[in-house]
Amino acid sequence: MELNFEELTRKYPFPEKRPRHHTAPHLYVPYSKLKVVPANYPVPVEKVDWAELFANGKKPDMLDIGTGRGKFLLEMALLYPNKNILGIEIKQNCVQWLKQVIEGEKVRNASVIWHNVLNGLQFIENESLESVFYLFPDPWPKARHSKRRALNEEVLNEIAEKLKFGGRFYLATDIKSLHEEHILLIENSKRYKIKFIESDLDWNLPKTNKEISCINRSIEYYRMICEKL
Ligand SMILES: C[S@@+](CC[C@H](N)C(=O)[O-])C[C@H]1O[C@@H](n2cnc3c(N)ncnc32)[C@H](O)[C@@H]1O
Repeated sequence: MELNFEELTRKYPFPEKRPRHHTAPHLYVPYSKLKVVPANYPVPVEKVDWAELFANGKKPDMLDIGTGRGKFLLEMALLYPNKNILGIEIKQNCVQWLKQVIEGEKVRNASVIWHNVLNGLQFIENESLESVFYLFPDPWPKARHSKRRALNEEVLNEIAEKLKFGGRFYLATDIKSLHEEHILLIENSKRYKIKFIESDLDWNLPKTNKEISCINRSIEYYRMICEKL
């Protein structure tokens, strides 16, 4: 099912055209490492009452890390009305906007929380998720900035804890060097079996906002599905 995202952005104007993360590096630091907590930093989420987020009151089945503007999250919710999908996003304006759309369009099985994934997934039950998506993350390509990435060894292990046996972790990026680093990280964790994706037929997921921009600009991108062992 395709969602008319452009129509949605007309109906719900986005508050700020270009959220610029490069001007707010403190956002990408774990809470425990901050000396002063800035006003636009998401206080780590420790516990969630799922009844407040999903109409059926149940826990999430799918997790979208770095939801951004949320086209993917919304389309997944429409495609799988009997599954709950939770987005995690560090930028407050994206979260506020998506909440407004979810509420306005009465999407009862999608929700998003303002949270930095580097602060953990303690609010999600172990072995409860069917799928986790980490699609087109901010690449932070410079070596000295790599700590700001949302995926590291710790987060990867935590994702494995939260996935059910056989659950799937989906990754996509348009940055080849980052894709190669993801492969190394995942192979070293020994917790997943990797399947590299060559064709849309093996992926079969709605396109994300960033993916559409890659397609429109003929930018190559790399995808893999990692099955939890
Ligand atoms: C390039 S955008 C991609 C968004 C979406 N997945 C897509 O494909 O269109 C990456 C998103 O990840 C979010 N992000 C970056 N670091 C994060 C973190 N540590 N925790 C949660 N979200 C994060 C950014 O704010 C941004 O919205």
